[in-house]
Amino acid sequence: MGKLEGRVAIVTGGSRGIGQAIALTFAKEGADVIVNYVKQKRQAEKVVEQIQTNGGTASALQADMADRKSVEHMVSIVLDQFGKVDILVNNAGILLHSDVLSFADEDVEMMWSINVKGVLYCTRAVAPHMIRNKYGKIINLSSIAGLGTAAAATTPYAATKAAVAVLTKRFALELGSYGINVNAIAPGLIKTDLILKGVSPDVAEGIIKYCEKASMLRRVGEPQDVANAALFLASDDSSFMTGQVITVDGGRMDFLSHSL
Ligand SMILES: NC(=O)c1ccc[n+]([C@@H]2O[C@H](COP(=O)([O-])OP(=O)(O)OC[C@H]3O[C@@H](n4cnc5c(N)ncnc54)[C@H](OP(=O)(O)O)[C@@H]3O)[C@@H](O)[C@H]2O)c1
Repeated sequence: MGKLEGRVAIVTGGSRGIGQAIALTFAKEGADVIVNYVKQKRQAEKVVEQIQTNGGTASALQADMADRKSVEHMVSIVLDQFGKVDILVNNAGILLHSDVLSFADEDVEMMWSINVKGVLYCTRAVAPHMIRNKYGKIINLSSIAGLGTAAAATTPYAATKAAVAVLTKRFALELGSYGINVNAIAPGLIKTDLILKGVSPDVAEGIIKYCEKASMLRRVGEPQDVANAALFLASDDSSFMTGQVITVDGGRMDFLSHSL
């Protein structure tokens, strides 16, 4: 029997990258998975097909995390279909490179809307139903960028991910007495479109080389590395953990200066 047998899980941004790996992993462990996407319908359908081919259950559902009504509509469809949501993975997120001297207002606005407001909207829509069932697992995707690594040109993005870490602790505080665990994962560099698309192959290679060197394990991450941690947090193996931000980054050496 899988670790998530009988559970209903929403994975926001489940069509690609880390979210895709989480969706596949949860389905393999028996969960009914809702693979959310915003634009790439075909990609989300491919994830669903892959799950179904492996004998799992999944459906693709479009919703824009930046749009409260769209998020609430998605959750209402899931509740109509399944009557509950056991697991919510607030994974959808974007990274628009910029620093304090160069950021564009609209980029900052968009990152806050998707990366932070999306987490608030989705959690608010799902939490009352978890409270009713006295059961829930909420997993947020923060980032080591939000914990203080020195990655270049990611300052406004880092602030959104620091906000996700704080929201994790506050949600855990507010929802713990209802049997709801809320934890976050702070990945290091994981090979996905977020990092590698939109930059030249040379730049991508430079980023990977830098992060391999900065890692104690001398490698960058794969989406499955994060999915493995997400499975632990979604399963009852972590039932006495809440309000934690778990770093999955291969041991970044640029954290050493303030690790004790
Ligand atoms: N990759 C890394 O190195 C890394 C490191 C630390 C933290 N993270 C965090 O991990 C999460 C996943 O990152 P990733 O690397 O897997 O990203 P990715 O490969 O770029 O995939 C992003 C996913 O988010 C979805 N999405 C984007 N905007 C959305 C919106 N407005 N509403 C709903 N869904 C939306 C996309 O859907 P479509 O396919 O429809 O566009 C896609 O499924 C993000 O929160 C990111 O900040 C990533």
